[in-house]
Amino acid sequence: MVDGAPAAESQDALLEAFAERLGAAREERLAQGVLALVGRLHDLIRDLRPTPDEFSAVLGFLTDVGHNTDARRQEWVLLADVLGVSTLVEDLSQSARGRATPSTIAGPFYRPDAPDLPDGADLCRDGRGQPLDIAGQISDLSGAPIPQAVVEIWHANAQGCYENQQPDLQPEFNLRGRFRADASGRFSCRTIRPGGYMLPKDGPVGILFQRLGLGLERPAHIHFRVAAPGFRTLVTHVFDRDDPAIGRDALFAVKPELLGEFRPVSDHPERFALAVRFFLAPETHP
Ligand code: BEZ
Ligand code: FE
Repeated sequence: MVDGAPAAESQDALLEAFAERLGAAREERLAQGVLALVGRLHDLIRDLRPTPDEFSAVLGFLTDVGHNTDARRQEWVLLADVLGVSTLVEDLSQSARGRATPSTIAGPFYRPDAPDLPDGADLCRDGRGQPLDIAGQISDLSGAPIPQAVVEIWHANAQGCYENQQPDLQPEFNLRGRFRADASGRFSCRTIRPGGYMLPKDGPVGILFQRLGLGLERPAHIHFRVAAPGFRTLVTHVFDRDDPAIGRDALFAVKPELLGEFRPVSDHPERFALAVRFFLAPETHP
């Protein structure tokens, strides 16, 4: 081969041949996605020119990601999360959201079977941690209350661990529950102040990030899922705005609208209060 031109031509021909084969695909959107992916992968290979050993290391990494994925652990989701891909998908799907509270990823620790609890109930089942009172308001985009919305709440304990990560150490359903907002869209509960945490370091994603010198920190936060008929279900976080790691979230989920103030209650320095307000977009919102 005298210069690079014939190689580039044969590479283009490869992509064209692939596109031609895809022409017969029945699922158009799927075929479009696969073709775009293959085109970008070919470009990447051309740009980076990996050696066969490097390419084999990449395949080894992807194999490890698969081996670390099962019913309890989802390394593929973690990979998409830490690369910012999950947050980008969320952001693009709500580009015209106006005043609606931003959606964020639910993460792997959500459980759809959390118990229904009466207004004001305590989520903390082991009595450990600094007490936190949450008062919430659910509104539509005009600010009018949405009555009877279903509000699910889950969060880590003070050490940054979810109950389903520590089935032997925390009571089942510790720090999670489902509430129903009242006629004026309000709900309240008692819980404890969550701690921030590190994403898992022991899997291929954590090991990759450590090799790259990238952080795996998540600032302290509480997850909420709010559902009401006629409205888009909102899945979001409220972050502790005073957490020192607030500017370093490994998942890029921190947004100004999602910063909460964990305010000390006067005369009770060990007790905190958090007020949250969520604006839901109508189901038909673009
Ligand atoms: C979480 O916030 O619970 C979470 C989200 C994505 C990956 C790991 C944890
Ligand atoms: Fe979390």
